[in-house]
Amino acid sequence: MRLKEFAKTGRKISVIGMGTYYDPLWIATAFLGWRRGAAPKVEAIRAGLDAGITLVDTAEIYGSEPLVAEAIQGRKRDEVFLATKVWPSHLHRDALVRSFNKSLKRLRTSYIDLYQVHWPNPRVPIRETMDAMEELIAEGKLTHVGVSNFNLDQLKEAQAALPKSELSSLQPDYSLVNRSLEAEVLPYCDREKIAVLAYYPLGHGKLSSDSRLESVSSNRGKSKAQVALQWLAGKDNVFPIPRASRAEHVRENAGASDWELSGQERLELDAKFR
Ligand SMILES: NC(=O)c1ccc[n+]([C@@H]2O[C@H](COP(=O)([O-])OP(=O)(O)OC[C@H]3O[C@@H](n4cnc5c(N)ncnc54)[C@H](OP(=O)(O)O)[C@@H]3O)[C@@H](O)[C@H]2O)c1
Repeated sequence: MRLKEFAKTGRKISVIGMGTYYDPLWIATAFLGWRRGAAPKVEAIRAGLDAGITLVDTAEIYGSEPLVAEAIQGRKRDEVFLATKVWPSHLHRDALVRSFNKSLKRLRTSYIDLYQVHWPNPRVPIRETMDAMEELIAEGKLTHVGVSNFNLDQLKEAQAALPKSELSSLQPDYSLVNRSLEAEVLPYCDREKIAVLAYYPLGHGKLSSDSRLESVSSNRGKSKAQVALQWLAGKDNVFPIPRASRAEHVRENAGASDWELSGQERLELDAKFR
């Protein structure tokens, strides 16, 4: 598994991550305490860790933090980069700290590597949210701060609201089939070295059977999903986080890491998906 530097942190993490949002039914039943279908999900996360994936993304709203906790038991904590998120209704200081501590408990850990604001909330001053993040950093419970689904202006406001630390990452919808990020936000993140955790990297799985990937896939002997993920992971600052709910998919996705698309292949894909 290839590693690359996460933002300006000096910390190297796997170029492919794992996402753990499953579906609304899972979320509803997980909050009721049901665990139907949990075992294969835990097995899938473990398969990814065994394949060298270190980046695991979850959120307080996904109902998957306990599964991540189960999957990482018995591993050295610093071999895993745990990213979770706070829901937009919890962005006032006290609510954020409460949410954070609950996530710590569900993840059965003493610190979180990356805490992300899941969606912006214009009713809460970003400075209040980021002050709370910096408190958690000062207490040694949090290492890096990120945001998700922020536009360029919101991203700049978030950066300005972190005087003592850095904004390390943005988590947007980004894949061959959604390239809206490339107009402004991606160049800005590249310049500022804000890591991009690309969600929906397989376009909800559709890219794994997209005929536009056929020629590169067959010429390179890689699956279409691996080509679509390498297209993201081969960029300096981008870390795709495909959903990890089936071990065989996770192992295949880990295989998007140790090879590179040529410049010619990138041009071909850019043209086909423009
Ligand atoms: N920040 C946000 O607001 C936000 C929003 C949405 C999602 N996310 C994050 O992004 C992650 C990914 O999003 P997503 O799951 O909707 O989209 P995705 O990763 O683009 O697609 C997931 C779909 O692709 C399938 N798949 C995965 N690997 C495959 C492979 N090698 N071959 C064929 N099919 C494959 C999965 O099937 P199986 O499940 O059966 O493996 C699933 O149906 C989420 O888990 C979550 O962590 C974040």
